[in-house]
Order: sequence, then structure tokens, then C-alpha cells
Amino acid sequence: MKYLMVCLGNICRSPMAEGLLRRKLNDIGSRSVVASCGFEPYHIGDSADARAQKTMAAHGIDICGHKARLFHPDDFKEYDLIFAMDNFNMGDIKRIAGNGEHLSKVDLLLNVQYPGENKVVPDPYYGNSDGFELTYSVLDKALDAVISKYEK
Ligand code: 4NP
Repeated sequence: MKYLMVCLGNICRSPMAEGLLRRKLNDIGSRSVVASCGFEPYHIGDSADARAQKTMAAHGIDICGHKARLFHPDDFKEYDLIFAMDNFNMGDIKRIAGNGEHLSKVDLLLNVQYPGENKVVPDPYYGNSDGFELTYSVLDKALDAVISKYEK
């Protein structure tokens, strides 16, 4: 399986989701791959937010090598499942989807854990470091649900 995690800046939520899912895949010996991207050009090429890096490091996950990139229409071909962190990202992705097959790959990440509830991953960017820990714990459970549904 090829997973793509999408948020706005690609410096907080989606790189955290990418790093955490990669560890979970590695832990079960999966050969699936995961990447992340965003829709905000301002941060292209940037590392993950220092607070995101610190939170992930506290959980033993190194995301230092991350470089932010934008979503590209080719991602619809390259990835099997495209998970948005919130409704803005989901709208952005759906707007450029070329066909029904593309659309069928896209959903809110939290709909895997809570089908049909349209819950969103909290954006910690404008808050303090507690927000990053909360985002981590939301992602941790959501990605366990991804592993259960798509990797078993
Ligand atoms: P992310 O967080 O989408 O989780 O990476 C944000 C990063 C940057 C901005 C907003 C959210 N920004 O407005 O620059």
C-alpha cells in the first residue's frame, strides 16, 4: 500500500503522521510506503516545525530529514490512499481530482477510526507545545486504525 498524508503547510500534522505511520509499518515488517505533502507554498523545502520535531523525538521518532512539498496531481496516480488532516485539505485535494478513481482514494484520516464522522486532526501550528502532544496522540490512534484496516 502507498499512503499519502496531506495537511496545509506540510510542516506539522502530515510530517508527524508520515513519521508515525512509517514506524508502525516498520514495526510490523510491512513493505508499504508513506509520504506527506501540503497545499501552502510558503513552507516548500522547509524542515518540519521545530515543535513537531521535538514532540516526535520525545516518542523516539526522527523526522529531521523531512522537506515540505506541495501536493501534485501525479500523486493521484502514485498513491493508493490519500488522507487529509482536515476539511480544508480535503477540499483542496478533491478540487483537483481528475476523475472518480482519484476521488475514491481520498478521505479524512480520522474517518478510518470513526467512519462517517468527519472528525479532523487538530492543527497545532498556532498553539503551544501541548497542542503537538495532543496531535500526536490523535494521530497515534488514527494510524493504529489504518494499520488494522489496511495492513492486516
Ligand atoms: P500543518 O500546520 O498544516 O499541520 O503543517 C500549519 C503550518 C503552517 C501554517 C498553518 C498550519 N501556516 O499558516 O503557515
